[in-house]
Amino acid sequence: MISGLLPELEVIRKDFPILERTLAGGLPLVYLDSANTSQKPQVVIDTMVDHLERHNANIARAMHQLGAEATEAFETARDKVAAFIGAPERDEVIFTKNASEGLNLVANTLSFPGEHQLGPGDEVVITEMEHHSNIVPWQLVTQRTGATLRWFGVTDEGRLDLDRIDELINERTKVVSLTWVSNMLGTINPIAEIARKAHAVGAIVVVDASQAAPQLPIDLAAMPVEERPDLLVFTGHKVVGPTGIGVLWGSRAVLDTLPPFLGGGEMIETVRMEGSTFAGIPHKFEAGTPPIAEAVGLGAAVEYLGHIGLDAIHTHERAITGYALQGLATVPGLTVLGPLDPAERGGAISFELDGVHPHDVAQVLDSRGVAVRAGHHCAKPAHARFGVQSSTRMSSYLYTTPDEIDALVEALNYTRSYFKLG
Ligand SMILES: Cc1ncc(COP(=O)(O)O)c(C=O)c1O
Repeated sequence: MISGLLPELEVIRKDFPILERTLAGGLPLVYLDSANTSQKPQVVIDTMVDHLERHNANIARAMHQLGAEATEAFETARDKVAAFIGAPERDEVIFTKNASEGLNLVANTLSFPGEHQLGPGDEVVITEMEHHSNIVPWQLVTQRTGATLRWFGVTDEGRLDLDRIDELINERTKVVSLTWVSNMLGTINPIAEIARKAHAVGAIVVVDASQAAPQLPIDLAAMPVEERPDLLVFTGHKVVGPTGIGVLWGSRAVLDTLPPFLGGGEMIETVRMEGSTFAGIPHKFEAGTPPIAEAVGLGAAVEYLGHIGLDAIHTHERAITGYALQGLATVPGLTVLGPLDPAERGGAISFELDGVHPHDVAQVLDSRGVAVRAGHHCAKPAHARFGVQSSTRMSSYLYTTPDEIDALVEALNYTRSYFKLG
């Protein structure tokens, strides 16, 4: 028996109807692609259906009972998300379409005229292990503004190379934007240490929590201010919520100084033909009709995770990751990319199988019912750092069992024999 697994694992699995289904040939589904998107518990599905069946209306503008119910449901979802991340203020939670939109919002508004406007001589620091969502927006914005983009490298073990931190984060640094947990290497980054450094030079700290929010307890209000990010994003579909909804949290102090990103309905205070004034947060950043049912679904999702407990989910993830690392180590010719200590990493494990293209690995695994991801996982620079184009990635979540890891290892050994690798 592995210690640390969620005690109610079999009950939890029953909450996720998709885990009951079988694939072609009657094979049971072994879903090991949760870093890509997580599966949804019945309560999220039911909440969204109920909203659409009984409470559907536009929010904040409909002067009728359904409108009031829909607005209440949407704003209650904001409260639930605020509680999930320990936001100091519920109005600091902004609903976006996904994490990518949150990062684009931040990068773009930091390039618009205003207190924080980037320009020539300014530096933005990211890392080599970012998802493309936290690279490309900064490339676009630094190119447009004349600011310089710099980045932390990655060590051979898959950790951030902090040797040059004093040189990289300096008095020219205006923004430091990094992932909390790498979607490719699994690495958990020391965001508190980096935030302290960045704040000491007056830089704004942006944290991509897309892979952290599903598996690490986040309590922003409990963080010392100098270690707390100024802005943080995550995406709904990785925290057992629906697609089409994401979250940008920002401290009021920073959000109040940022100009709007998108213009439209509901983000204004008043509009005249000569010009407009804008609503306060969060509405300033929520132009147009938002993804209402999706926000309501996300509220149910984070409430569900909260009931199970993020500490317990983190412990489970760590136990499964440790078991998976042990299992993968028994497969001849398999190399894991990233830290080998489960305490230093999240539940996404990318690997190479000597002599087999990652796409072929994924296809053979799929023929055995094991769903993994193959490719560059939207992290091309991180792959280039390790001299590879792509990798295969397994990723677990709160519903993953040791038996599923055994099935993966068995299918990888089958892959080796399929390709006659001795
Ligand atoms: C670390 C990280 N950042 C950002 C994203 C982007 O999320 P989305 O595509 O939902 O915007 C992902 C998704 O894979 C991710 O893993």
